[in-house]
Amino acid sequence: MHQEGQRRVGYLSAQVGSTSSGPGSFRDREEGTMNRLNGKVALVTGAAQGIGFATAQLFAREGATVALTDVQIDEGMRAVDEIVRSGGTARFWQLDTTDEPGITRVFAEVVDAFGHLDVLVNNAGISGTNKPTHEITLEEWNRVISVNLNGVFLCTKHAIGYMKSAGGGSIVNLSSIYGLVGAADSPPYHAAKGAVRLMSKTDAMIYAPDYIRVNSVHPGFIWTPMVENFLSSQGDLEAGRRAIDELHPIGHMGEPEDIAYGILYLASEESKFVTGSELVIDGGYTAH
Ligand SMILES: NC(=O)c1ccc[n+]([C@@H]2O[C@H](COP(=O)([O-])OP(=O)(O)OC[C@H]3O[C@@H](n4cnc5c(N)ncnc54)[C@H](O)[C@@H]3O)[C@@H](O)[C@H]2O)c1
Repeated sequence: MHQEGQRRVGYLSAQVGSTSSGPGSFRDREEGTMNRLNGKVALVTGAAQGIGFATAQLFAREGATVALTDVQIDEGMRAVDEIVRSGGTARFWQLDTTDEPGITRVFAEVVDAFGHLDVLVNNAGISGTNKPTHEITLEEWNRVISVNLNGVFLCTKHAIGYMKSAGGGSIVNLSSIYGLVGAADSPPYHAAKGAVRLMSKTDAMIYAPDYIRVNSVHPGFIWTPMVENFLSSQGDLEAGRRAIDELHPIGHMGEPEDIAYGILYLASEESKFVTGSELVIDGGYTAH
């Protein structure tokens, strides 16, 4: 119910954004048209589906100009099309977050097209191999580290200069509950997500003087293609889904939007005093 209300407010803002009295102004809020990211340019990695797409959609509804990037071209173009048809401003760039020359080129093109870069959401990720540690090849290990950890480093590295030029910014890194607590699966995923948690704090301290905030987000299990594919590979999808539901005290998995609203807060000026923090959105998974 609450979510539905929020969704309606967000959608409205895309329709009436140009008539508001100023970016995120008090009047906007009073009128219920919360343009929480008005005037901001945001780049989201892995934005073709799942949490990245939900985030890009929400950002656009809240007034941001959004650069959606992903390795999947058709899905990325479809995602942009959906956002633009709803009144948002967005464009797609193909980008593999492990490809440093590609990052250099795409970030430059985004800033060239949209003028500046204020928000980076390091969302691209893979679940990777799900074997016990002693059975994992170095190649399988490195693949997960390359996307889930090195990709965050590389995109952060190349965003910093643009954010300094813009006078500040917000970087939101997708970690996981698997970056906070252990579970008897996916060793390289845990390693990468744990590292992302601490990288976020270090970068928060390094770049605080530049007004660049860095925070991590820690979702519980969220119903996205990543989780669906993971459960399908394990056998009975419905049984798997029920078992995962039960791990969350709230009784079910989350939806991409549950995470997107947290990312929106960290991207917006509402969180201007928040840096180096970890936002856990997990239906109580890590509460015990
Ligand atoms: N779904 C969950 O339960 C869950 C829980 C905790 C954390 N997360 C994290 O949230 C993020 C998004 O997860 P999701 O569930 O939406 O996943 P998803 O698989 O549904 O979507 C991930 C997107 O990233 C893209 N991608 C993969 N590798 C890439 C690369 N090298 N360069 C660019 N794009 C790439 C994929 O094409 C895909 O569009 C990931 O970092 C994931 O680890 C997800």
